[in-house]
Amino acid sequence: MTARLAVLVSGNGTNLQAILDACANGRLDAEVVVVLSNRKAAYGLERAALAGIPTEYLPLRPFLDTGRSRRDYDAELAAVLASHRPDWVVLAGWMHLLSAPFLHNFPNRVVNLHPALPGVFPGADAISEAWEAHVAGKLDSTGVMVHLVPDDGVDNGPVVGTVEVPIVANDSRETLEARIHAAEHELLVDCLSRLIDLDARRKRPYEGPIGVHHPTDATERRTAALPEASQ
Ligand code: GAR
Repeated sequence: MTARLAVLVSGNGTNLQAILDACANGRLDAEVVVVLSNRKAAYGLERAALAGIPTEYLPLRPFLDTGRSRRDYDAELAAVLASHRPDWVVLAGWMHLLSAPFLHNFPNRVVNLHPALPGVFPGADAISEAWEAHVAGKLDSTGVMVHLVPDDGVDNGPVVGTVEVPIVANDSRETLEARIHAAEHELLVDCLSRLIDLDARRKRPYEGPIGVHHPTDATERRTAALPEASQ
């Protein structure tokens, strides 16, 4: 069964493009059913439009400006995505943390890509931080990872896959960044393929979110269990 992917982007969308290409060439048994961005200028939205894929634009600022909270935004984000019935929500350069009002609607179904290895350089500047550590003589390789998103921790959760990226002689920050992005494009497609295969083998397709709800505080923080076959 072809998996339905919702892809969230905040920027250029080269990883979205890797997913679109993998869907088109058969490497992924999946279709991107919606691309959503919090930034109108995100080129990822244009990539989606060029591929004929529905797009959604949902900025945070109007929520905050009208006295609504970040949690309200996350609940609305979940409602918008749920209307597209995704099997997987893929954070491909999505630069907002997601809280329980979002995550409870897609338990164990949110996948994040990060340009560093687990536990190292979380946040928005991972590549710069790795480069600076290298220049300071503390690091001769970095990496990329794909993980499930169980809670609002920063780039943290059950790991689906990692790839080490060496820092080589004559590297500049730019050449390192290019190598990291190339590794991401491969790893993200590989990991999505593994997760989708796992679903197919279990013959238990995702039933989809059952309405969008606000969890109580007591049930807010849950830990996602990584599907065993992908460990
Ligand atoms: C990627 O390097 C991704 O790992 C990173 O944003 C970039 C998006 O590139 N995400 C994070 O740093 C998450 N903390 P893209 O828009 O070209 O796919």
